[in-house]
Amino acid sequence: FYLGIDVGTSGTKTLLIDEAGVVQAEASAEYPLHQPRAGWTEQDPEDWWQATVTTVRQVIKAAKCKPADVRAIGLSGQMHGSVFLDKKDRVLRPALLWNDQRTVAECEEITQRAGGRKALIKMVANPALTGFTAPKILWLRNHEPKKFDRLAKVLLPKDEIRRRLTGEYASEVSDASGTLLLDVVKRNWSKKLLGKLDLDPDLLPPVFESEDVTGTLTTAVAEQLGLTTDCKVVGGAGDCAAGAVGNGVVRSGVLSTSVGTSGVMFVHSDKPQYDSEGRLHTFCHAVRGKWHMMGVNLTSGGSLQWWVDSILQGLAGIDTKQRYEAATREAEQAAAGSGGLLFLPYLNGERTPHADPHARGAFVGLNTTHGRGQLTRAVMEGVTFALRDSLEIIRSLDVPVKEIRVSGGGSKNPLWRQMQADVFGKKVATLAVEQGPAYGVALLAAVGDGAYKSIEQACKATISVAETTPAQRKATNTYNALFPIYQRLYSSLKQDFA
Ligand code: XUL
Repeated sequence: FYLGIDVGTSGTKTLLIDEAGVVQAEASAEYPLHQPRAGWTEQDPEDWWQATVTTVRQVIKAAKCKPADVRAIGLSGQMHGSVFLDKKDRVLRPALLWNDQRTVAECEEITQRAGGRKALIKMVANPALTGFTAPKILWLRNHEPKKFDRLAKVLLPKDEIRRRLTGEYASEVSDASGTLLLDVVKRNWSKKLLGKLDLDPDLLPPVFESEDVTGTLTTAVAEQLGLTTDCKVVGGAGDCAAGAVGNGVVRSGVLSTSVGTSGVMFVHSDKPQYDSEGRLHTFCHAVRGKWHMMGVNLTSGGSLQWWVDSILQGLAGIDTKQRYEAATREAEQAAAGSGGLLFLPYLNGERTPHADPHARGAFVGLNTTHGRGQLTRAVMEGVTFALRDSLEIIRSLDVPVKEIRVSGGGSKNPLWRQMQADVFGKKVATLAVEQGPAYGVALLAAVGDGAYKSIEQACKATISVAETTPAQRKATNTYNALFPIYQRLYSSLKQDFA
């Protein structure tokens, strides 16, 4: 058996699969997200660890497997987060997360120290963005210098879990790409940029390929989890690459979208490819010797969550699930295009395509005929337009787009699935087993253990398309007419967001 653990933003999900890729058990545990100031997001790494222990124990118990049956673990997690450790491995402060926006000044500092944006992209394939890890390290140096003086290691969220499982410091290429410190083409740390930023390379752990074994469980942890010290831990992947593996996006021509808290449009690439304006990220894939490009919307499912949980609180009274169902039922009654109402989903700033931490959300075009259903629908359409922004950049780069696979909590909703097909003007596919990043890294664990020759082979053997949703011409025409207006709104409102 193989375990996949995904340390997400709202919670940790753990899966147990057998060698054939069949899910035997799953469990999740939630934890809080702290927002000490507007634009700041933090979590306590101890919460991730507790959730890991709880969920692993739950799946082992549910599957009734013997300790030695679990041969390897794959780790996935929210990308870019900064776990700051002192030399005794004590966490120095809560981790800053991927959607934290406090590092505008540090991004400028990095660009300047690197010798400009072009020079930076040449070194690490990407421009400096507030969510990435390097600006967080500089923020600690600039704002909490006493803590920075004690800093001995910086780890990504899933790599902190790895340290606690195996006692080893290690990362892997896909997640390391999102630190802004990896030479993405050479698949190793950029000594050159580290030098320019005056950062000690020893702050960072060694980097592996995603399927490589980075260690085995410590005796104490094996006992705590009900596993053995022979259980291997493989590199794993950042949640975007892990989710893509879980969707079988491991070859050219296949794209996937994920609508979770964030929205991701992900495309496989056989060689490192760039958007010259740096709007898409160019990162290493979790497939050995391959890359990917992706666009990320910061508040995707997060926008619907805000709308339903904070604004429609009283709707249909009671529990959250019913509230979502009632809200999307109303949205379904509204026609495509929401009566001309548009929504910009930039509630916490936006990454792709605007890279603007100051961007904000907006409803534009309200009139007295609009009701709640149209507002809900406009939120969902705005999020889908944001994904199309990334798709259009991908299309403009001459990257083949043969098949789009949709995933994530948002895509489980049939309305949102149909909306994606209609807004993209292309049929979308859903998978027979859609278990997200945890599934992708459980497969990487199987590869690392030798059950499959490669991750491509593992995906071929275990992943299949269940259903396709064709685009409806009439709705696509409506969306094609609205999309340029949606795109113009950001430029019109930009100077007034502050
Ligand atoms: C990717 C990103 C988010 C997080 C969410 O660049 O910032 O998708 O990984 O967990």
